[in-house]
Amino acid sequence: MVKNYYDAYGELINPWYITHLRKMGILNVGVKAEGATFTDSAGNVFIDCTAGYGIGNLGHNNTQVVNALVEQLQSGQVNTRPFINKIQIELAELLKEISPPGLECSYILNSGSEAIETALKLVRLYKGGKKIISMEHSFHGHTLGALSVSGVPAFKKSFMPLLPAFEQVPFGNINALQDSIDESTAAVMIEPVQHDAGVKVPAKEYLQQVRELCSAKDVILVFDEVITGIGKTGFMFASQYFDVVPDILVAGKSLGAGLIPIGAVLARKNLWQRFGLSFPMTASSYGGNALACRAAVESIKFICENNVLESARQKSELLFSGLKSLAVKYSGFIRSLNGIGMLFGMEITEKNTAAAIVRKMIENNVIVYQSFGNPFVIMIEPPIVISNDQIERVIEAFNKVLGEV
Ligand SMILES: Cc1ncc(COP(=O)(O)O)c(C=O)c1O
Repeated sequence: MVKNYYDAYGELINPWYITHLRKMGILNVGVKAEGATFTDSAGNVFIDCTAGYGIGNLGHNNTQVVNALVEQLQSGQVNTRPFINKIQIELAELLKEISPPGLECSYILNSGSEAIETALKLVRLYKGGKKIISMEHSFHGHTLGALSVSGVPAFKKSFMPLLPAFEQVPFGNINALQDSIDESTAAVMIEPVQHDAGVKVPAKEYLQQVRELCSAKDVILVFDEVITGIGKTGFMFASQYFDVVPDILVAGKSLGAGLIPIGAVLARKNLWQRFGLSFPMTASSYGGNALACRAAVESIKFICENNVLESARQKSELLFSGLKSLAVKYSGFIRSLNGIGMLFGMEITEKNTAAAIVRKMIENNVIVYQSFGNPFVIMIEPPIVISNDQIERVIEAFNKVLGEV
């Protein structure tokens, strides 16, 4: 007989995660998610400043998306293979409309990692086995291809050898990238904002120079917007904030509204032509299923019809100014505050202090977390639909907790 859910999860699923949650002071199971809040099995209500690790930009259980999904399920039009489904075509048309110009074609998969794999295969198909350059400290997912392109040694070391022909250079350093691009380079893959590294927001000029360099050297530029897409930066895609159009863009997470798993690869038509010629390029049993596509269509409509991006930019300013004044007040142990839209990273001088702040924030009913890639950084990334009132409560909680540590 298993004693409780935590013991059972630790015994049957993942003991590491249970230890991790206990350290954070999260001791119950989650029973409800709504808007920017979670409720646990003891009835505690928390403001979610994780957006469910990035899947819940539109708030949890967004009513418009839930209703659309119920309707889709009841219509009996869910999986109709070998037929194509019209909702995927509607999604492809919408993605083309909301994406940076030129990214006309798309393919839908079941996760960000699967979409990253597909982007890598698209590069291989077009350029052969040439080198793919990515960034130190970048994170692109946990599958073997995604790990090969990622730049976090700790995530990779147990799984060596990974795929050959990948190389990492420092993020933000255009000279290093320039030096590493040569005739054997197929592509550069980059997160426009390095998330797991602690929310590193580069200067606009850097990404624009990356674009110019790739164009000049005939190298494919791939943006990983799995985290930054679907409104997280206050723009539909971060590419639009940076005013840079990649050749391939990868999305996921909040595209499924936190309800249905999804990943998407968007690309220019000239790259896509090879895709259409090759069945083994990619296929996935559930990829592009009607429920995932409906969640994505409804998420995009929700953002466009409710002026969510404009409002996210205003809320971002409110949260940023509150956090910034705390960073100044507690500059003794807050080293920096980085952020854009609803993605913020507060860098603390000591890892243990960062852990203590996270624990105390959770005691005060606000869930933040230490970055998995950089434990000095406290990640603050609520759904973009968080209310002003909830933002005030987050700032109040930080003020109290920072005063106590
Ligand atoms: C930037 C980035 N790319 C790719 C992924 C992988 O996405 P998924 O977890 O859906 O496989 C993640 C996941 O955290 C991510 O943050």
